[in-house]
Amino acid sequence: MSAEISEKVMEREVGRRRTFAIISHPDAGKTTLTEKLLLYGGAIHLAGSVKSRRAAKHAVSDWMELEKQRGISVTSSVLQFPYHDYSINLLDTPGHADFSEDTYRTLAAADSAVMLMDVAKGVEAQTLKLFKVCAMRKIPIFTFVNKMDRFGRKPLELMEEIEDILGIRSCPINWPVGQGNEFKGVYDRLNEELILFDSAGSHGSKIIEEERMALDDPQVETRLGPKRYEQLLEDVELLDIAGDPFDLERVRDGELTPMFFGSAITNFGVRPFLDAFVDMAPSPDQARQKHTEPTRPDFSGFVFKIQANMNPAHRDRLAFVRITSGVFEKDMQAQLKRTERQIKLAYPQQMMASDREMADQAFAGDIVGLYDPGRFRIGDMIYTGEPIDDVDIPRFMPEHFAVVEIQDALKRKQLNKGLNQLSEEGTIQVFRQPEKGSLDIIVGAVGILQFEVLKFRLEHEYNVEIRLRRLDFQHARWIENEEFDEAALNRADYLKVVHDRDDLPLLLFRNNWALNYTKQQYPDLVLLPNPPGTPGLEQLHGKRYEF
Ligand code: G4P
Repeated sequence: MSAEISEKVMEREVGRRRTFAIISHPDAGKTTLTEKLLLYGGAIHLAGSVKSRRAAKHAVSDWMELEKQRGISVTSSVLQFPYHDYSINLLDTPGHADFSEDTYRTLAAADSAVMLMDVAKGVEAQTLKLFKVCAMRKIPIFTFVNKMDRFGRKPLELMEEIEDILGIRSCPINWPVGQGNEFKGVYDRLNEELILFDSAGSHGSKIIEEERMALDDPQVETRLGPKRYEQLLEDVELLDIAGDPFDLERVRDGELTPMFFGSAITNFGVRPFLDAFVDMAPSPDQARQKHTEPTRPDFSGFVFKIQANMNPAHRDRLAFVRITSGVFEKDMQAQLKRTERQIKLAYPQQMMASDREMADQAFAGDIVGLYDPGRFRIGDMIYTGEPIDDVDIPRFMPEHFAVVEIQDALKRKQLNKGLNQLSEEGTIQVFRQPEKGSLDIIVGAVGILQFEVLKFRLEHEYNVEIRLRRLDFQHARWIENEEFDEAALNRADYLKVVHDRDDLPLLLFRNNWALNYTKQQYPDLVLLPNPPGTPGLEQLHGKRYEF
């Protein structure tokens, strides 16, 4: 630990960190809310006004050319901004369904998550998938119901849906007053205050005015009108009697989700949410998903994401490290656990959109982007002092497979280099068939859009053109057996045995029938439901989930 940093300073620094991710289905408003959080954090001064919103979206979180072409966010970014005395690290997660694998990994670096839902749509498919990962990792969830400026479902209905689909209880911290163009404010249940919003015609580009008044203030009835006032009193009473009381321990255990209502586009409800969130969300030392003691004086961290060529002007690759303890200092030396080598942690970057600020010092909860000349892998641990335990970063079963066909055989070397790096980044998984004497390279992905990213990046970053010949396999299973008759399995035309980068065999099955038939034919074969090293993802809250 740096000599100048006392234990007290470190405790204070760690205690004011809030590291979280937003989980949502595409179009729920994640980009809009992110921008508004930056506005309220003072990191930007005008939201969405300079360029069109689509263009602004690219400016905030999209780097890759491909993303610009498709108008979707392919890779995650990390935004750091202050809010009051807190230091917030927002891990941006890609919203497109096909890129969920990257998102899953990002959650390993989060201490809490904000589940954003569209009031008209409730819990959607992508939200559910991400929620399961949060639940598995014991990440507390804060729910923000967005688009209250539109008509949608009733708040009580949404509470029921959360319980039915996600299996957790919710506790509204605030309660909406009106909906659609009648959405006027929220009632803050903890402070027993009504908060009325006034956009003053800024269309959400600036911080809005808010007026607070106690519920028993005689003005409230006049301001809301008798009907809305009666309705609010009724709702508040119902929630008090029938709802779950607020319990911070249950929130931190992931059993109860604090619920907020708002409209990111008009800024209504953004500040009440942010104020309560920073107060309730765990700091790294309070998080349940704790990797090591965050105030441990020795530095430690793990790589949860690797990203190449974020800025076309510098051809570089960054390894994103979530700091888990101690103090990070620019250019410090640390041990890379996997290779047992001492390395210099060079060119650290803290990410704020595409402006990179040099990070001189960072603490547990912070994310630093390290310059990576190809030495890191996802899941790598780095530390000084005593070694720390490994973090499990889930790997996911690939669901789509293709053979890589190279156009120009002389470029095989570049191809191998590109595939190697892109598999270390987690863009795709690479498999070979050494036992069959085949030179074919097979790639596997969780979402098919990853194949497009692969082609595009090989072409633009490694100057190799490829064709991908899709393989018709629907299921994959790693096996536990150390010995098995690979040749016999390979003779069947309904399955194929390939080897992963650690030379572990993976069985690919054409369809359900092939999977079941193989189980019958080879009863001694132990097929693993998840990739090796990944804990039982499918068993959560006593429910069985299929990933
Ligand atoms: P995403 O990142 O989750 O995919 O969502 P994004 O913020 O891009 O928002 C998706 C659409 O929903 C956008 O409209 C956005 O303006 C709108 N939106 C976000 N928050 C709110 C809200 O609180 N209320 C309402 N009414 N709409 C909201 P779009 O038409 O697709 O894009 P644009 O033309 O507005 O840029």
